[in-house]
Amino acid sequence: DEEKKSLILSSIRGVPDFPKQGILFWDVTNILLNPVAFQCTIDLFTKQYRDQKIDVVAGFEARGLIFGAPLALALGAAFVPLRKPGKLPGAKVFEEYITEYSTDRIEMHADAIKAGQRVLLVDDLIATGGTLNAGINLVKKVGGVVVEAACVIELPFLKGRDKIVGTDLFVLVEKEGE
Ligand code: PRP
Ligand code: MG
Repeated sequence: DEEKKSLILSSIRGVPDFPKQGILFWDVTNILLNPVAFQCTIDLFTKQYRDQKIDVVAGFEARGLIFGAPLALALGAAFVPLRKPGKLPGAKVFEEYITEYSTDRIEMHADAIKAGQRVLLVDDLIATGGTLNAGINLVKKVGGVVVEAACVIELPFLKGRDKIVGTDLFVLVEKEGE
């Protein structure tokens, strides 16, 4: 597992000054260029959750969908996309949140998760934690049981973990910064 984690860590590319001057952007899509590295992320998540009786994996648009959907298949769970505004056709619930760069909202079909279902939230990266926290609130709003939240990478210096109160956070790798 440590070998898998170091392959994942080395596959995440740092892009300076994106989206603004002074921000070092950690580009997780670089993992996807190497199917071995991509498979490692799904394998490590699958190992963590295969015995957790996960009914639903909920992934955040856009990059959380990439990791969440194959994980749902590996776990034999349903997959629910948490989407950016205006994309879902059916009756929906929403939650507003603040990211590193803007204020945004996520939406989910109101009937996608049934009360009492065990839900795992998945995203590529936790920065300030605003996105994950909104997802947790959204799942709880419809009566879902939040088992845990999982991300490929955490930026611990942004203290996003502190915002995820009452929910355990599992991450594969971390990157330093200031
Ligand atoms: C990025 C990232 C996480 C979120 C983390 O998404 O993919 O979803 O920000 O930030 P936070 O912890 O401060 O909330 P973003 O919406 O920027 O882009 P994406 O649509 O490419 O996933
Ligand atoms: Mg995102």
